[in-house]
Amino acid sequence: MEFNNLLLEVKDGLAVLTINRPDKLNALNNEVMKEIKAAFEHIRENDEVKAVIVTGAGEKAFVAGADITEIHTLDETSGTYFAQVGHDIFTLIEKLPKPVIAAVNGFALGGGCELAMACHIRLASENARFGQPEVSLGITPGYGGTQRLPRLVGKGRALEMVMTGNMVSADQAQSIGLVNHVYAADELMAKAEEMARTIMSKGPAAVAMCIRLVNEGLDLPLDEAKAHEAKLFGEICATGDMKEGTAAFMEKRKPNFTGK
Ligand code: COA
Repeated sequence: MEFNNLLLEVKDGLAVLTINRPDKLNALNNEVMKEIKAAFEHIRENDEVKAVIVTGAGEKAFVAGADITEIHTLDETSGTYFAQVGHDIFTLIEKLPKPVIAAVNGFALGGGCELAMACHIRLASENARFGQPEVSLGITPGYGGTQRLPRLVGKGRALEMVMTGNMVSADQAQSIGLVNHVYAADELMAKAEEMARTIMSKGPAAVAMCIRLVNEGLDLPLDEAKAHEAKLFGEICATGDMKEGTAAFMEKRKPNFTGK
């Protein structure tokens, strides 16, 4: 697929989606957001794509936020619409039934931090910086920052980040659970690919169900979440992949999963 502001490459089932607007530190304007939506819809429907890595073009930024020049023009009605559109797109990423890894290679601010948080796993380079600096602009986060951040790092740390607007380093982000691992900048993409391919070697239906269970379970009271897990465990037990994976273990061979 061709985009004005994205690069989408697929190699051996792994898609690398690069936000490609480096002169503006990959800031998310309306056109970029529309293209991200189209790219993820394409990825969702394309059976050849098994996993996705999201990263930013250039040395400096993953994504430095929503485009402030566009935010400046918003009013009450268009502001609500702006945030709802962003939520729809980031929820599409969060609910994608294929693993999405953010390879955060620089500034991940505002909408950039929110984009990373919508991905299933975050890996960062040592020079990555995370932050929700919206209060410095007199606004609040609008693409999930006040909601996904506390779910990842806890209420107190999230409130500190959204109220001070301060950036945290990659190491600090790792220590609070915002990123899973930190790597040297020149290792980041290889490590992201290694993790993606590890997940791609597992049962695809089971991986998709894990994403669903974690997303859906976190919104439920524990007893309901456990009941939901039990129900979906039953569903996964009805798949060919379950028979294949367990048979392969017993026969001491590699499984040949079909995702069915
Ligand atoms: N929206 C629109 N343009 C942005 C942007 C954003 N979120 N972030 C950076 N840019 C643009 C800059 O305006 C500049 O454009 P110009 O060269 O035409 O002037 C270009 O990207 C490079 O950014 P610059 O500020 O010169 O780089 P820097 O290294 O001095 O600073 C940051 C880097 C990330 C600290 C700084 O760009 C910044 O604070 N950006 C805004 C972050 C933010 O508030 N994000 C949340 C938005 S809701």
